[in-house]
Amino acid sequence: SGQSFTLSNGVKIPGVGFGTFASEGSKGETYRAVTTALNTGYRHLDCAWFYLNEGEVGEGIRDFLKANPSVKRQDIFVCTKVWNHLHRPEDVEWSINNSLERLGLEYIDLFLIHWPIAAEKETQETPKIGPDGKYVILKDLTENPEPTWRAMEKIYEQGKAKAIGVSNWTIPGLEKMAKFAKVTPHVNQIEIHPFLPNEELVQYCFNKNILPVAYSPLGSQNQVPTTGERVSENKTLNEVAQKGGNTLAQVLIAWGLRRGYVVLPKSSNPARIESNFKSIELSDADFAAINAVAKGRHFRFVNMKDTFGYDVWPEETAKNLSA
Ligand code: A2P
Repeated sequence: SGQSFTLSNGVKIPGVGFGTFASEGSKGETYRAVTTALNTGYRHLDCAWFYLNEGEVGEGIRDFLKANPSVKRQDIFVCTKVWNHLHRPEDVEWSINNSLERLGLEYIDLFLIHWPIAAEKETQETPKIGPDGKYVILKDLTENPEPTWRAMEKIYEQGKAKAIGVSNWTIPGLEKMAKFAKVTPHVNQIEIHPFLPNEELVQYCFNKNILPVAYSPLGSQNQVPTTGERVSENKTLNEVAQKGGNTLAQVLIAWGLRRGYVVLPKSSNPARIESNFKSIELSDADFAAINAVAKGRHFRFVNMKDTFGYDVWPEETAKNLSA
């Protein structure tokens, strides 16, 4: 899919990005996936310091550009993110430099704060883990991320990142940021799929000119523990896919694009990497059918509260809405 969106600062962002979080984490898997994606036509790579594979992503980009002289660095959109233990301004600066070095790039297209959680570091390479096995939260910097955002703004001014934003931010967090931000975040990367349509937050972002970017757009492979449901097994969604002769993944990607935001499908399987990139026609009736499945649902598959020792969505946890 060659569809793209435009950020509030005029920067173009391809609508389908390739997620590089390697669940296997085995050596070479990221490299193979990234080169397959670039050869397929993906021009947007979603990375993170935390994925510990920016080196392989960088190698993939370099080898692809070498083999395809007609494609230039500026034709590829690369996003990466700063991890929780690097929120102090000097550490944010270290993080972007470290990512640029590992990726082998002079600049990145988009730099995000990965989570609205500031935590203590052991070293810049390692988050500090407390005696309870969880992150050591920096309360002040978590509650007031102004110094962190100032560091992000500086990176933007320096041109090391062509756009900046946040990830896993809530409406209250964005409201707080609006009070001090000189640069409004260009994107908010959040979990979105038919079991978590996130209507209110998505609409809020549209209203503020913050482009939503959907992670886990395929709904992860996990079950909703209370009901045993999986997005991939939903009857209506599968009917929409079968009727059109498409895969469910293609339908879910088309649904996200039609709702107006970027989607980040992720796969390590070459055939699925390729089929996910093929655009399909989603009829008004199909769109309505998927919206009907999504309506009223609010189930989050990605909640790192047990790892972090900090809950970004305490109201949802109270209602048992997270895996
Ligand atoms: P695989 O790498 O074997 O293709 P998430 O929604 O959290 O991003 O999850 C992505 C998951 O969806 C991965 O486990 C990936 O597995 C799987 N996946 C990606 N594309 C497809 C597809 N077209 N059909 C089925 N599963 C897919």
